[in-house]
Amino acid sequence: MKNFAIVLAAGKGTRMRTELPKCAFPILKKPMIKYIYENIEKSIIDETTIVVGYQKEILMDIIGDSVNYAVQSVQKGTGHALMVTRDIMAKKRGTTIIMLGDMPLVDDKVINKVMNYHKDKDNDLTILTTKFAQPKGYGRIIRNEHGNIESIVEHNDCTFEQKRINEVNTGIYVINNAILFKVIDKIKLNEKKQEYYLTDIVEIMKPDYRVDTFELWDNAKVMGVNDLYSISIAEHYLRNVINRQHMLNGVSIITPSTVTIGYNVSIESNVIIYPNTYITGDSVIKSGSKIGPNTEIHSSVIHNNVRVQHSLIFDSEIKSDATVGPFAHLRQGAVIGERNRIGNFVEIKKSIIGEGTKASHLAYIGDTITGKNVNFGCGSITVNYDGIKKHQTIIGDDVFIGCNTNLIAPVSVGDRVFIAAGSTVTKDVPKGALAIARNRQINKEDYAKNFITPKDDK
Ligand code: UD1
Ligand code: CA
Repeated sequence: MKNFAIVLAAGKGTRMRTELPKCAFPILKKPMIKYIYENIEKSIIDETTIVVGYQKEILMDIIGDSVNYAVQSVQKGTGHALMVTRDIMAKKRGTTIIMLGDMPLVDDKVINKVMNYHKDKDNDLTILTTKFAQPKGYGRIIRNEHGNIESIVEHNDCTFEQKRINEVNTGIYVINNAILFKVIDKIKLNEKKQEYYLTDIVEIMKPDYRVDTFELWDNAKVMGVNDLYSISIAEHYLRNVINRQHMLNGVSIITPSTVTIGYNVSIESNVIIYPNTYITGDSVIKSGSKIGPNTEIHSSVIHNNVRVQHSLIFDSEIKSDATVGPFAHLRQGAVIGERNRIGNFVEIKKSIIGEGTKASHLAYIGDTITGKNVNFGCGSITVNYDGIKKHQTIIGDDVFIGCNTNLIAPVSVGDRVFIAAGSTVTKDVPKGALAIARNRQINKEDYAKNFITPKDDK
C-alpha cells in the first residue's frame, strides 16, 4: 500500500496583505511550500499532489514537475480544495496525509509519526492536534464526555466556552484514501463563509468510521502562517533550531540572535561566524573559515581558511586561504582563487581569478578571466559594457595593473605585462610588454603664475 500526501496551497493568503501567493512567501529566503515539499520528500511518503490555484505558476515553478498538481480555480475552502484532487487521487489505494501549505515547520519526523500512528491504530481518520496557550485563529477540538473527538469548530464559530479550549486542529489529517473519496462530497457549503470546510469531515465520518486524534507536544512545528507577523515567529523558530544544530556540530556563532543561516546551508566544524551575518541558499562553508561580521552570503561556496568581513557574496566561490572585504561585493559566478586578497570597495562579477591575485582597493572586475599573481591597482576597472553588450577581458599571469587603469573590453593582456598607472587600454597587450596609454606629461617651466594669482597681490 502506498503513502500519499496532498498539500493544500491554492489560497491567496488575504491576511498576508501581499500579492505573492502565501505558500510561496519566503522564510529565510526559501518559499514556505519548499520546506513542506522537502520534508515530505524525506519522509515515508511515496507520491505528492499539491492543490494550486491563485497564481499557480509561481508555486509550480518553485516545486517543479516531480509532484502532481490539482487546480482549484476558485478557492471555495479547504474541503473544496480536496474535492479537486478527485481525478488524480480517487482511484489510488493507500494512506493519505493531508497537509496545509502554510505550515512550513512540520518536519519529516512529524509526518512519519502521525502516519505510523494511524496505521498502528487501524484508524480510518486521524487528526493531528496540539495545544496552544493562545489558540486564537485555529479550529478547536471538541470532545465528548469520554474524551473522544466529536467535531472541529472554527474559531469564529466557537461559543465563548469553546474559545477557551486549548486543543486545536493543526490541519494535518491522515485518512484511508478510498474512504476520503467516499465521504468528501458529503461536505456541505458553509452558508456563512460560502466555503466547504474540510474540518466537517469529522462529524461526517464519526458514525461509520474509526476517527481518532494524535496530539503533538511540540506545538511550534505545526503553527499555521497566516500573516506577516506569524512569518516572523516562524523565522525566529527556524533560526534557533538551525543555529543550535550548527553550534552542536562545532560551528562557533557569536551572538546567534543576529545570525541567520538558511535551512539548506552546510557548514563544517571549526568555522566562526561573527554577528549580523546572513548565510542562505545552498551555501557551503568549509572548515577554518571566519565569516562576518556584517556579511551576506547566498548560494556560494567558501573553501577552507577564508576570511570574509563586511561583504556581500552571491552565487560565487572563494577558494582556500583568500581574504575578502571589508566592503567587497562578489556576484553572478565570481570565482576567487586561492590566497587572493580582495579588499575595500571591490566588486567582482562573473569572473574567474587565479591564485595569489590581489585587488586590495576600489576596483571593478567584470566578465574577466584573470591569471595568477595579478595585482589590480587601486581604481582599476574592466570596462565591460559598451551600452549595448557586455565584453570579456582576459588577463595573463604575473600582470601588474597600475592604479586607475581602464581595460576597455574586449581586450587581452599577456603574461608578465606591466600597465602604467592611469592608462586606458584599448588594444591587446602582448606578453612581457610595458603598456602606457595616457598622455605624456608636459612641464612648462615658470608657467603656473598665469593661472595662480599669489595671495599677496589681491
Ligand atoms: C485551517 C483550518 C483550521 C486549522 C488551521 C490550522 C479549515 C476550515 N480550517 O484554518 O481548523 O486550525 O487551518 O492552521 O480547514 N486553501 C486552499 N483552497 C481554499 C482554501 C484554503 O488550497 O479554498 C489552502 C490555503 O492555501 C492554505 C491552507 O489551505 O495553505 C489553509 O487555509 P487557511 O485559510 O489558512 O485556513 P485557516 O483559516 O488557517
Ligand atoms: Ca492557515
